[in-house]
Amino acid sequence: MTRCRIGVLASGGGSNLQAILDHLAALGDARRGDVVLVASNRPDAGALDRATRAGVERAVLRSPHAPDGDELEDVLARHAIELVALAGYMRLIPAAVAQLYHGKMLNVHPALLPDFGGTGMYGARVHRAVISAGAPLSGPSVHFVDEVYDHGPVIAQWPVPVLAGDDEHALAARVLRAEHLLYPRVVDAVAGGEVQLDAEGRVQSERFTSPRLPTMDPMLDDVTLAIRLDAALGPALRR
Ligand code: GRF
Repeated sequence: MTRCRIGVLASGGGSNLQAILDHLAALGDARRGDVVLVASNRPDAGALDRATRAGVERAVLRSPHAPDGDELEDVLARHAIELVALAGYMRLIPAAVAQLYHGKMLNVHPALLPDFGGTGMYGARVHRAVISAGAPLSGPSVHFVDEVYDHGPVIAQWPVPVLAGDDEHALAARVLRAEHLLYPRVVDAVAGGEVQLDAEGRVQSERFTSPRLPTMDPMLDDVTLAIRLDAALGPALRR
């Protein structure tokens, strides 16, 4: 089987990158893609160290504050990237690249979009906004990327309870646990061609028929959560 060539763009520590690498490794021969490139706008990004440890090729973008379309397109083309996964990438994707990778570029956002997303909504700000709004649920949204921050069609969302007394750190940690389980599964599914965008920009998938999953129970351990999540998503469609 030919596997999809995945490129990950990251600006920070890269815990989601690590979750993707670990999940694909755990799937073994059943995985539908391989991470073959990690690119970052920051030379000191922890994600690049993780790439080195995993033996994955790495690239540092030359213009850290505003990597332009040509530069990004060039890096992705040189590595023949078919699917791009943003994992804490803090720069806007230029329109030309978003169009080139239409239906082939994913992001994970740490709140239930369309709420609490958009320009300036990243990191602790997201979680503070969720808590101040008194929202009972937060949780990761995995979505296709377009040229607007946090705007493209949502594929999957896993609601996570906001608990009494939560500060942004406690909530961020709970949501991150859910991200680490959900995002790699969606990346593998898209790599396997299970999720597509139709001409109207709607998500088409036999498996991801409605984006909202049952609410995560944070009292459960990760192994049990993964089993519950896999049951909710249903078996991967092998072609
Ligand atoms: C995550 O919270 C993700 O939702 C957001 O950026 C953060 C990245 O964290 N897009 P990491 O670098 O993967 O640890």
